[in-house]
Amino acid sequence: MSDLGRRAEELDAADPLAAYRDAFVTTPGVVAYLDGNSLGRPLRATGERLARFVAEDWGDRLIRHWDEGWMDAPTELGDLLARTTLGAAPGQTVVADSTTVLLYKLVRAAVDARPGRGEIVVDTGNFPTDRFVAEGVAAERGLTLRWIDPDPLAGVTVDDVRAVVGPGTALVLLSHVAYRSGAIADLRAITDVVHEAGALVLWDLCHSVGALELGLDDDGVDLAVGCTYKYLNGGPGAPAFAYVAEALQPSLHQPIQGWMGAADPFAMGPRYEPAKGIRQLVSGTPPIVGMLPVRDMLALIGEAGMPALRRKSEALTAYAVEVADELLLPLGARLASPREPAARGSHITLDHADFQRATAELWRRGVIPDFRPPDGLRIGLSPLSTGFAEVLAGLTAVREVLEGGSRGD
Ligand SMILES: Cc1ncc(COP(=O)(O)O)c(C=O)c1O
Repeated sequence: MSDLGRRAEELDAADPLAAYRDAFVTTPGVVAYLDGNSLGRPLRATGERLARFVAEDWGDRLIRHWDEGWMDAPTELGDLLARTTLGAAPGQTVVADSTTVLLYKLVRAAVDARPGRGEIVVDTGNFPTDRFVAEGVAAERGLTLRWIDPDPLAGVTVDDVRAVVGPGTALVLLSHVAYRSGAIADLRAITDVVHEAGALVLWDLCHSVGALELGLDDDGVDLAVGCTYKYLNGGPGAPAFAYVAEALQPSLHQPIQGWMGAADPFAMGPRYEPAKGIRQLVSGTPPIVGMLPVRDMLALIGEAGMPALRRKSEALTAYAVEVADELLLPLGARLASPREPAARGSHITLDHADFQRATAELWRRGVIPDFRPPDGLRIGLSPLSTGFAEVLAGLTAVREVLEGGSRGD
């Protein structure tokens, strides 16, 4: 066995979270699932929960269950998610819509709460939907986008933000973990700099939640959004979440005024009167079925604890870099993520001109990373469902496919 193989064996044997891997549905033919940062694996418990839901909550109770829990699900699940993963007190988090829709609601509400300020700060490395939403709201409200062009590896720094914020800034919209490089932005220091300029900050936590320890209340964050289908294993199209700091709630008015966010939805009144608190962020009927799997993953995370997940996540990405250094960099691949484990989230990206072709071949072999243009292979390592031997098997296959490509077979 190679040294890397022995290391993987040792790391798996010493992993205090190793037993959690059995909690996930196994997929015959999949050798290495390296895309839990895009779509988390389903939990076995979720299959049972969904069947029970059809038979009991929905089948037995029918529409009566709206009064027996479903109406409150957006805020009840929001509080659970906040406590388990966000470091946030109750009453500030809601589960609803998609990340994109919640981004729209919060960007619009935030810029309206800072009248007289004409700029939204956003970075060129942010995920497309964030940039597109900011562009749309700027056009709608006659605002200007002020762009940060961050170092692609290091991501957005405090100095980048300090250089562009000022009396004209209404909102700064950033991702905490960069979707391509995995670089972590200094959430607390950047939040402070934005506040010194009198502006609001909105953090996209899609690649952080369930992978990194967060303390939104302690860090003084204003607004945040994130999805639940990556490290929270909610499944395709699972609803997103939004956080609005309690102190800010009375001054924010989201633009999609719907009956489910009204003070009394069933009054069927002539005019919209928003619900008090975080509930006003809801617009239409809550996506109850999509929320079910998230509960299973939150239970597991609550049991294992975020600090343990973060330790495993750092160990996984560190091992992936070790393997890449030995097997892939000699073939011309480049690490496109920070080298320091503490500086990155739970994925690494490797660049190589042949990775687009390689990804298709890897998927055929049951090795599943994802490809991010122009030439990035993104390796997502989900702390509770990924093992070290799995990382080695996956990256060994990447090497074989690269070698095969250069031989032309
Ligand atoms: C950083 C980030 N923001 C937003 C999204 C997606 O938003 P939505 O859930 O609306 O598709 C993603 C999806 O991968 C993402 O990585």
